[in-house]
Amino acid sequence: MAEIIDGKQISAQIKEELKQEVAELSAQGRECCLAVIQVGNDPASTVYVGNKKKACAYIGITSQAYELPEETTEEELLSLIEKLNQDKTVHGILCQLPLPVHINEDRVIAAISPKKDVDGFHPQNVGALVIGQKGFVSCTPAGIIQLLKRSRIEISGKHCVIIGRSNIVGKPMALLMLRENATVTVCHSRTEGLADICKSADILIVAIGKPRYIGAEYIKEGAVVIDVGIHRDENNKLCGDVKYEEAASAASFITPVPGGVGPMTIAMLMHNCVEAMKLYS
Ligand code: GUN
Repeated sequence: MAEIIDGKQISAQIKEELKQEVAELSAQGRECCLAVIQVGNDPASTVYVGNKKKACAYIGITSQAYELPEETTEEELLSLIEKLNQDKTVHGILCQLPLPVHINEDRVIAAISPKKDVDGFHPQNVGALVIGQKGFVSCTPAGIIQLLKRSRIEISGKHCVIIGRSNIVGKPMALLMLRENATVTVCHSRTEGLADICKSADILIVAIGKPRYIGAEYIKEGAVVIDVGIHRDENNKLCGDVKYEEAASAASFITPVPGGVGPMTIAMLMHNCVEAMKLYS
């Protein structure tokens, strides 16, 4: 039976470390501030944004909330971002995605100063990750690296299979695992022979976006299984992309849903905010 990787506990530990650091900086008169922008009122986004604000309050980071109506134009949003870019008291800018369809997400992401891009979505930060330079890294994959390292799981030399190629998770995850000297395979919806490829993974990272899709036939005995998915099943119960019970009986380590990867995303966002202040203010 697999050992559970407790993301709640590991994220709490990271938040404690940050809280202490923020208190020390605050004693020197340095206050950290994150601007959080939400356009429209997508219910899931409202929950995520609320959790981000709560985490800021817990750690001692000031959060500024910008709740803009659905009809906000791209121009209005860009001009708010420009104002926040110029504001020396703001260290991080987060624009919650998805944006309403009339707003071009790429343009919005590119408008955020790379020095305040605590999501790590700006092309400059993505490029820096590709060529091994410093920059902000997307929070979910950065959180997964922390889960592995703090659970003392060896990455170097291991075969890591990632299912999913999104800009937010799959691609940066592949680059981070390469940086840790893993041998990396990226799979996606068109991959042929997916189960066989997954079955060769020492570390399997699943971001396929389909509830309880990955069962025992995808998992090598003793593999580490990281489940990025989060869904509500027909009984309104939270579940991941992985069939948890089946996977847990084959794996050596596994992340649960909820309480695995999810809490790490916010912890790493907080980490990036503190870094932004330390580096650029
Ligand atoms: N929407 C879903 N996940 C994220 C995230 O990590 N950052 C932002 N800005 N929007 C999201």
